[in-house]
Amino acid sequence: MLKVDLQYAKLQKDVLDYQEQVTAAHNDLVNKTGAGNDFLGWVDWPVDYDKEEVKRMKELAASMKGKYDTVLVCGIGGSYLGARAAIEMIKGLYPSDGIEVIFIGNGFSPNYIHQVKEHIADKEVVLNVISKSGTTTETSLAFRIFRQFMEEKYGKEGARERIYATTDKARGVLKAQADKEGYATFVIPDDIGGRYSVSTAVGLLPLALCGIDIDALLKGSADAREAYRDPDLKKNDAYRYAVARRILDQQGYQAEMLVTYEQQMTMVAEWFKQLFGESEGKDGKGILPTSACFSTDLHSLGQFIQQGRKILFETLLYVKNVGTDSLFPSDPENPDGMEYLAGKELSWVNRKMMEGTLSAHTEEGNVPAILIELDDNSAYAFGYMIYFFFLACGMTCYLLQINPFNQPGVEVYKKKMFALLGKE
Ligand code: PA5
Repeated sequence: MLKVDLQYAKLQKDVLDYQEQVTAAHNDLVNKTGAGNDFLGWVDWPVDYDKEEVKRMKELAASMKGKYDTVLVCGIGGSYLGARAAIEMIKGLYPSDGIEVIFIGNGFSPNYIHQVKEHIADKEVVLNVISKSGTTTETSLAFRIFRQFMEEKYGKEGARERIYATTDKARGVLKAQADKEGYATFVIPDDIGGRYSVSTAVGLLPLALCGIDIDALLKGSADAREAYRDPDLKKNDAYRYAVARRILDQQGYQAEMLVTYEQQMTMVAEWFKQLFGESEGKDGKGILPTSACFSTDLHSLGQFIQQGRKILFETLLYVKNVGTDSLFPSDPENPDGMEYLAGKELSWVNRKMMEGTLSAHTEEGNVPAILIELDDNSAYAFGYMIYFFFLACGMTCYLLQINPFNQPGVEVYKKKMFALLGKE
């Protein structure tokens, strides 16, 4: 399902030299004895998840089927990026089933809020508000605006049928508000932090409302959990990737560019950036996660990668089979000089672009590259991939002696902003 290839990574140390540290960190992860251990619920979640709640999500989606064409998903950070990454990767950017997903609550732009309201005025809407704390300002602001929109459109009773809250099981203002209004509620487990939560109700409910097979996603994560149970660096790709990042960090590389090859993978890269950025970027440590989509960005960032400052390495996330393919058409008059590609599959062209660029960047540009190949863009593959990255991220942070599961730095902007907004 997922393979890591380190042959282009230009590692100056042997990955296997880290076995002892990796085994110790692995034990801390799976035995829940490491830093931030009360947020390690994601390790066993793919097998321990609440089956009853997953059933409720599927039943809710089934009971509402045909009654909506628009899903509003209100949340930010870990309560936003995973669902969006999954939906776009699995369904593509323009799915043919007529369900549009619109993400709100992930910023303060008045223009965006206004445009969404205008855009959905005549649509049939359901709204899923997602916040573990229940107090995140971006989410709360948008939720008040769109809750009122829903009540004006459907009346209090109608809105009640169409608003769902995903939050803490007992605490927080969102839980209290949802209970008071009678919204269906779904739980974000105490021991799973935002950026590790896409396979909980945080991601699963929006996915179910979009018709995605959430059982397949959970099965993918469960199989990855099984595949990575053994910390042996000869076999464990998640840990080989983590160690390769660590070695490249020690070789002086300050940034990692996650490269994708399909427009529908762009949000996976955004999700990845949050996972590693918020987990690893603390105590003056960490690799800056960045991203690019090729070949689009070969015509922008490509110049820098090839010949600019040697501060970054690439991690290439290549999906082998994205479902739809087509043959490049023939035109015997060849007015555009493109006849040499006639009859070739477009996926083949994309692959050759990837291979050519890999060779240009690593051989002539001297840029290290880690190649990750994923079989396809199914829900199962998404589930497998996220578990791979969770584990690699946890391992990276433990190797750096960092707590992966807090984000104290994020509070600083909130304090400054609240002072300016007049919040008590
Ligand atoms: O990863 C995290 O923990 C954060 O990005 C949170 O998900 C984000 O701040 C949103 O928090 P909440 O779900 O409490 O609204």
